[in-house]
Amino acid sequence: MREASLTQDTLYEAVREIKSRHSIVGRDEELAEALMCVSAGRHILIEGPVGVGKTVLASSIAEYLGRPIFRVDGDERYTEQKLTGWFDPPAVMQRGYTHESFISGPLSNAMTQGGILFINELNRLNEGVQNVLLPAMDEGKIEIPRIGTIYAKEGFLIISTQNPREFIATSSISEALSDRFELLPLSYQSEAEEREIVERRTGTRDRKVVETIVAIIRETRVHPSVRRGASIRAATSMAAIMNYLGTDVEDYRKAAYLALPTRIELREDSKKNVYEIIDEIIDKAVFSSASLKPEAKPQDAVEDTKGTGEEKKTIRK
Ligand SMILES: Nc1ncnc2c1ncn2[C@@H]1O[C@H](COP(=O)(O)OP(=O)(O)OP(=O)(O)O)[C@@H](O)[C@H]1O
Ligand SMILES: [Mg+2]
Repeated sequence: MREASLTQDTLYEAVREIKSRHSIVGRDEELAEALMCVSAGRHILIEGPVGVGKTVLASSIAEYLGRPIFRVDGDERYTEQKLTGWFDPPAVMQRGYTHESFISGPLSNAMTQGGILFINELNRLNEGVQNVLLPAMDEGKIEIPRIGTIYAKEGFLIISTQNPREFIATSSISEALSDRFELLPLSYQSEAEEREIVERRTGTRDRKVVETIVAIIRETRVHPSVRRGASIRAATSMAAIMNYLGTDVEDYRKAAYLALPTRIELREDSKKNVYEIIDEIIDKAVFSSASLKPEAKPQDAVEDTKGTGEEKKTIRK
């Protein structure tokens, strides 16, 4: 297995390999920590706000390990039988409750094949389903009615992701489950890294457009009326839309009106609607960023444009 040969010296080589294979920007420390944990045979839980790169990190590590990966997308309707396995009714009619009638679920498959169980959105699973994971994680076995005990082969690991507890539609995992994971918290990346992600993910080469878009989405995270700001997904979306637009304020506004309302959440006490808040964000981000500030021009050139309405054209209000 890949990680068995990892040493302190080769850890960062592995990080570089993962980053280049998946075109990941930054996150060197987080990847190194995750690799340390999985090399030590620990299960990891990657926690962070929406769109911060949890899935990309978890899946790139799972893939690097070179073991079979079984994926579960957590939601409240996911059942214990789906996770462990179930009996196929026609097969049961023919053969009864035998091993041949049993269809293994992702947990049983990951255990018997020494693979990775990759659980996206762990805290969306209901408590009964979460409890099934407990013996698998520390004793390496689960009991399945009519089948018996399933044992985990060496290499079995769980890599999970979840949004932080305070997010709506998520609940917290039990203390017992939490006690079986190493926690890897992810927060938003730096402005420079976010710009690079947008460039890589959209192929947009216009530096000013990228800078302005990233300034806009970062502004959503600090606006006092916004409870949940936009992630890098909003920035890549805006950049993709801007490919079909020009580069003046109205173009940014159009892209923001399309990309932001679904991705930001206003505080309950906000007196303004989402479009009014976006207008405020645009005004602040666009006019304060270097990109749309009038270029420093010789004095006479500035005089020339006065009164022509040229500059007004770009400002809606
Ligand atoms: N460090 C990064 N380098 C390159 N791309 C990134 C990075 N972080 C995030 N992305 C990109 O941003 C998008 C969102 O990332 P991802 O889906 O991993 O977020 P998430 O935290 O799992 O979101 P959610 O909470 O909605 O599940 C993806 O397109 C991903 O490729
Ligand atoms: Mg995700």
